[in-house]
Amino acid sequence: MLDDLRDSYAKSGDEHAEEFLDWRRYSQRPYISATHGNRYVQNYGNEIGKSYGNYEQSGTMPEGSVFAKDSFGVSANGQAQLGPLFLMEKMSTGWNTASDDWRYTLIMPNGQVVGTTKGEGDGNVEFCIACHLHGAVDSADSVLFLPDELRAN
Ligand code: HEC
Repeated sequence: MLDDLRDSYAKSGDEHAEEFLDWRRYSQRPYISATHGNRYVQNYGNEIGKSYGNYEQSGTMPEGSVFAKDSFGVSANGQAQLGPLFLMEKMSTGWNTASDDWRYTLIMPNGQVVGTTKGEGDGNVEFCIACHLHGAVDSADSVLFLPDELRAN
């Protein structure tokens, strides 16, 4: 299934969509995320964003931090079905104060990019910003982490 994931999302041509499976994974196992379509998800982060591992103490993420969340659903007959890929990337300071300088991108399993902040389909990813800005504790820079019991360490 991992190879399927990689091939599908990579069709988008997004460099992070091609790489994220090689990054550190912060979830112990797939878990259901009500806020991302009630699908099973996992969380990954690149090397620049490694302070994610300090969770609520992580502070402001440096430019170039990227987090990814892949997803799948399970149909009534028990078949796993690939869901969208959720990406957030920390851009330079002042790039877009409305999103804390994060660029959110939503990619469908067939590689179609539904939207990306300040790019094509911008309006389709505005809902990401709203929830991430308001959901985060003050210190956490729009990053929301995952429940304690699911953290890989
Ligand atoms: C209604 C709230 C909500 C919306 C809308 C939402 N998220 Fe999230 N997001 C969360 C929560 C809560 C977490 C952490 C827990 C979890 O996985 O459910 C999270 C985690 C993430 C992560 C892992 C990094 C982190 O913050 O821990 C990424 C990447 C992400 N979301 C991307 C997106 C993108 C892209 C969109 C829009 C297409 C989006 N999210 C929409 C609430 C939301």
